[in-house]
Amino acid sequence: MLISNTKEWKALEAHHQSLADIKTCQLLKDRERNDCLFKGFDKITIDFSKQKISANTLEMLFELALSVNLNEKISGLLSGDKVNTTEDRAALHTALRLPAEKSLILNGEDINSDVQLQLTKMEEIVNRLINGHWRGFSGKPITDVVNLGVGGSDLGPLLVCDALDEYEVQGETGINVHFASTMDGSQISSLFSSLNPETTLFIVVSKSFTTIDTLTNAETAKQWVLEQCSNEALVSKQHFIGVSASPSKMEEWGIVAEHQLLFWEWVGGRFSLWSSVGICIAIKLGMRNFRLLLQGAHEMDKHFLSAEFENNLPVLLGLISIWNVNFRKINAQAILPYDARLAVFPDYLTQLEMESNGKSVTLNGEAVDYDTCPVLWGEVGPNAQHAFYQLLHQGTQKVNCDFIAPVKRFCNTDGEHGKRLKEQHLLTLANCFAQSRALMLGSSSSEGISNKTREESANSTSHRHYPGEQPSTTILLEELSAYSLGQLIALYEHKVYVMAVLWNINPFDQWGVELGKVMAEGTLDALSNKGKVDDFDQSTNKLIRFINSKVKDSGGL
Ligand code: F6P
Repeated sequence: MLISNTKEWKALEAHHQSLADIKTCQLLKDRERNDCLFKGFDKITIDFSKQKISANTLEMLFELALSVNLNEKISGLLSGDKVNTTEDRAALHTALRLPAEKSLILNGEDINSDVQLQLTKMEEIVNRLINGHWRGFSGKPITDVVNLGVGGSDLGPLLVCDALDEYEVQGETGINVHFASTMDGSQISSLFSSLNPETTLFIVVSKSFTTIDTLTNAETAKQWVLEQCSNEALVSKQHFIGVSASPSKMEEWGIVAEHQLLFWEWVGGRFSLWSSVGICIAIKLGMRNFRLLLQGAHEMDKHFLSAEFENNLPVLLGLISIWNVNFRKINAQAILPYDARLAVFPDYLTQLEMESNGKSVTLNGEAVDYDTCPVLWGEVGPNAQHAFYQLLHQGTQKVNCDFIAPVKRFCNTDGEHGKRLKEQHLLTLANCFAQSRALMLGSSSSEGISNKTREESANSTSHRHYPGEQPSTTILLEELSAYSLGQLIALYEHKVYVMAVLWNINPFDQWGVELGKVMAEGTLDALSNKGKVDDFDQSTNKLIRFINSKVKDSGGL
């Protein structure tokens, strides 16, 4: 039976109707309710009180979660049940952050011992690099490392490296870390213009080691180094590391066994930054910070497993999102970090949430009759205030907004400029809190509105009218560190799982990305005159003929 036919779901629909004439600001007068919606765990504090929910709403959402055995599903995830049903395997990213002394048996083997083995191998490589002992073909130490990967093999390490730039370790050589993901070659060609092939190491990261985007970039990179040193075996050995779940494919490509780092089929690409996929994080921030990242995430895993629903941050975040999507019919989610260090976080979450939960068929293969993953996007909040906030405040869409900010910032910065930076942080927090407030209250607050315009703004047809009632959640991190970032990412990973359990969909496959890849093969043949040109639909035929005629006219693009 679809969840939408259960009595718990129907009760929530009726409850939603009963709240129709109530504004969030009225709900906010209930101090007890607000206290129940202000929750914390370790380095993370969340205020859910600007959501249009009453104490009853939460109780009813818990009933809904109990009706699908959410508790058992959470322990099943963490203990290695085959939750990825369409690929017949577990999804054990949580095993990647277990403490070394713990064991986790999967198919009769302790997988944590494999995890620890790869961590040790990764640490050895990282130490060789940051101590200047890894030499390029000409004998000079490596100074620059380029991560070649896409999707989960790019976004996680990119997010963490970017967010924690201030924690960069200063080894003997001070390795610079770069990222290139796109198949169009723009990123890698721009790196070629600033890097030296003698001192550059490429890390080819691909779970499947078949992704055309990554392998194309890797081939181009190899050619670039080979132009300076024709000894291919030496170039492959000293300038390429591979990270994959397929050692045979790495070997086929020319990665020597000692420079292969492994992870496993039971780690989904978008959940893989905790594995050797995170090697660039360790090169830039040191193993100590990498381990702190894992530790933070592990603490969140324990919380997810053991906290009762009313105090369980990922459960609350997931259930309240379900409330917004399925009962309030809000199909847009904005991610708004009030800290430029988290600029990549919206992109990271776009993959995590939409690739996981952008599904319309249940685990049993039945079509859902309810909405699943909302469209998600975001931007650093202070910049977005000068861009798309117009739509949030006065557009026709309802959008659920996650505001994210650190509590402490610039604590160790001295001097007059340090004072100014601390003031900038307060200014940023003030904007964060004010925006969520304005989104909720709209014109019902007369604050900041002159007497002259007050009357006008109350009129719903006025250009100055703010309808308000945009729901938001405010997530505060004590400060941005490897440990707290680990917790934040794990919080969202588990939120995604909670929503998938409620929707009865598989968040761990991504069949939807395959069709376009297959179609691209035939299209490339037609574009490179190896296949028939007119075999496509009329639009595509025209586009291909247009490009081919340009090639003919100019003898190449
Ligand atoms: O095409 C989508 C996808 O498979 C993602 O799920 C994945 O993170 C990305 O491509 C990269 O895949 P791989 O790590 O196998 O190169």
